[in-house]
Amino acid sequence: MKNGLEDVIAAETQLSDVDGEAGRLIIRGVSLDDLVANSTYESTATLLLDGMMPEALTEEELRQRLGLARKEVFAHVAAADNQILALPPVDAVRALLARLQDGDGVDTAIRLMSAPAVFLPAVLRLQQGNRPIEPDATLSQSADILKMLTGRQPSREQTAALDAYLVTISDHGLNASTFAARVIASTQAGLTSSVLAAVSALKGPLHGGAPGPVLDMLDAIGTPAKAETWLGDALDRGERLMGFGHRIYRVRDPRADALKGALKPLTATGQVDADRVALAEAVEAAAISILRERKPDRPLDVNVEFYTALLLETLGFPREAFTGVFAIGRTVGWIAHAREQALRGRLIRPRSVYVGPLPKAA
Ligand code: CMC
Repeated sequence: MKNGLEDVIAAETQLSDVDGEAGRLIIRGVSLDDLVANSTYESTATLLLDGMMPEALTEEELRQRLGLARKEVFAHVAAADNQILALPPVDAVRALLARLQDGDGVDTAIRLMSAPAVFLPAVLRLQQGNRPIEPDATLSQSADILKMLTGRQPSREQTAALDAYLVTISDHGLNASTFAARVIASTQAGLTSSVLAAVSALKGPLHGGAPGPVLDMLDAIGTPAKAETWLGDALDRGERLMGFGHRIYRVRDPRADALKGALKPLTATGQVDADRVALAEAVEAAAISILRERKPDRPLDVNVEFYTALLLETLGFPREAFTGVFAIGRTVGWIAHAREQALRGRLIRPRSVYVGPLPKAA
């Protein structure tokens, strides 16, 4: 038995390939760098869904239908009562998602892709005592998310940065949440069920729940000069450094650099806190060096969550909402995998080794 199913191949996929030795991510034949440089959320979603849905969609059709779907799902925000609003944002989004109909078609898929994009900003505003802002079907998904979050038209650089984030995290091989989505899809339960299972897997700090704690760590460190001591003390206490390490990557996670790059236009136009970036870079360098020293047998480098934290903070998302933003971007990957599994896979049903007591008679 392989603990954590490490290195076990559990699916064949045309969707994405994670090469952990080379530090390379390919999404449907396109390298991550090319994808981030030349795509939007909508074009990446079209690429991921190509051939997986009962009906083909062009990028423009998807953009229009997502806009209309955002309007349609906004009606569900009314169900966010005090009990739902008392939950952490990702749990509140999950509760609202659970009210959507299940199904396997394009309408269900598009509704699911637009729902977290609408629910998360609405939940955050309601939790802060503000009125939710209605979606604008004419905007791109990224621009509309930022407008629903702040009530203001986002700048071109802000929209591009969120787009780069959503593209970067759209799919990533057989990670825990995608595997969960495929397990559910293999029972033919429907896309809404798959996405709900995936959100539940995503929220754990070992998967998509790390970027909030990354900011807590930056706050606790405070200044670049304190990085080395603070990180050393944390490792002495047996803690893990959030935003570092990965099950597959043995080198730098390529998504970290894609997100670092996405911050550059914001930095160039003065829309980023330069001191915060300097602190993050100092912490990153100190952490890599100390991890090399303390864990010489396990290559540990920066992962996607580190620069996610900086990017989403810059765009105005509160840290408790970061996992929810991850869910907005990853939903299309979950849907593509769920469809691929339902179309080409079998019921996923592995076996376990019983190591408990035997009945007396045996
Ligand atoms: N800080 C300190 N030590 C670490 C870290 C870390 N971030 N990550 C792994 N290690 C150590 C771990 O303590 C263990 O050491 P030892 O063998 O001496 O006990 C060794 O490295 C191997 O750890 P592991 O738990 O077998 O590694 P894994 O492949 O199961 O864990 C991980 C991968 C991402 C859960 C882990 O690196 C981690 O907890 N990182 C911090 C949380 C984090 O950044 N999560 C976001 C992951 S990226 C998002 C995604 O793609 O899902």
